[in-house]
Amino acid sequence: MTTAEAAPAKKSSPKPGLSPFCNNIIGKSSSICKVFSLIEKVQDTDSTVLIQGESGTGKELIARALHFGGDRGNKPFVPVNCGAIPAELLESELFGHEKGAFTHAIRTRIGRFEMADGGTVFLDEIAEMSPVLQVKLLRVLQEKSFERVGGAKTISSDFRVIAATNRDLAEEVRNGNFREDLYYRLTVIPIESPPLRDRKSDIPLLLEAFLKRFCVTKKRVITGVDDDALECLKRYQWPGNVRELENMVERMVILAAGEVITMEDLPPQLLNTPAPANSPTIAEIPETDFCLSEIVADYERKLIVRALQQTGWVKNRAAKLLKVNRTTLLEKMKRHGVDKSVGN
Ligand SMILES: Nc1ncnc2c1ncn2[C@@H]1O[C@H](COP(=O)(O)OP(=O)(O)OP(=O)(O)O)[C@@H](O)[C@H]1O
Ligand SMILES: [Mg+2]
Repeated sequence: MTTAEAAPAKKSSPKPGLSPFCNNIIGKSSSICKVFSLIEKVQDTDSTVLIQGESGTGKELIARALHFGGDRGNKPFVPVNCGAIPAELLESELFGHEKGAFTHAIRTRIGRFEMADGGTVFLDEIAEMSPVLQVKLLRVLQEKSFERVGGAKTISSDFRVIAATNRDLAEEVRNGNFREDLYYRLTVIPIESPPLRDRKSDIPLLLEAFLKRFCVTKKRVITGVDDDALECLKRYQWPGNVRELENMVERMVILAAGEVITMEDLPPQLLNTPAPANSPTIAEIPETDFCLSEIVADYERKLIVRALQQTGWVKNRAAKLLKVNRTTLLEKMKRHGVDKSVGN
């Protein structure tokens, strides 16, 4: 993307008190709600924001919500992918150049900082910026003025900077790859974009929204996801975060055998996810519909079934595996309705 973007149409806000642009960020887990409240607090300021988080967690969505929901929302949003533009071109992309500044500079061109006057420059993948440009960026952030490449005239522009990275920038500073002074200048307002595995309670909502969208765009009818498949989706660790989920839903909508997504429709990497063993990873506790005793009972039942399957339904061995008395195991099997003849 090389040009400034106009404001998208505002939708009505079903998230009470939040800017309509937060609606593009689906979720109601406590960690994503913290992000919403930060967006609300800082969107109308011109303070520099650094968004950090793993790839595919929605950093760009957060940047757009900040810009389009704030005072600068009807001014340009100018994204720059610092990792995708070769270092030698990035300087003239950001600052512009004068005619004749270098071999192919046949005419004067304004840079992204000038383009973003009144609006926002989104510096994506900021950790990839070369040390030479890091120095120049620091100066621009402090003075809000710069010269085009090959030019002598000082140009002023009123832009806000939102930067993003999927690296740990503090770690990059410690390793000598990123300037400490620039790091502090960028992290005036830090926002952490949480990984999907830490907000699994958002999976049903995301699934629903992606299913709805892809059913329309791919002209398919999928009514939902069955319980086993949903459990599998929740158990998976989502290394590619929301982007991985979004792409997976697109594929499943196109390839699903029936109108409901089942285990058969899930890709192999999900089916290979081991069931939680000794200590389950503790997912985030949802605000509603949470009942400790039900969850513990459900987990106990699954461990008993697993132990019985593993030992060929020999109860003595299963009891040993679980380190409980045989009578305790029998009593628990009865309580949980575990019976080989009915499949579990
Ligand atoms: N909470 C969310 N609700 C809806 N869609 C989301 C959400 N988070 C991410 N997405 C979608 O996932 C995809 C990746 O999001 P985005 O590009 O914002 O991630 P990113 O953190 O910038 O990733 P990268 O570090 O790889 O650039 C996009 O298609 C985006 O629309
Ligand atoms: Mg991104």
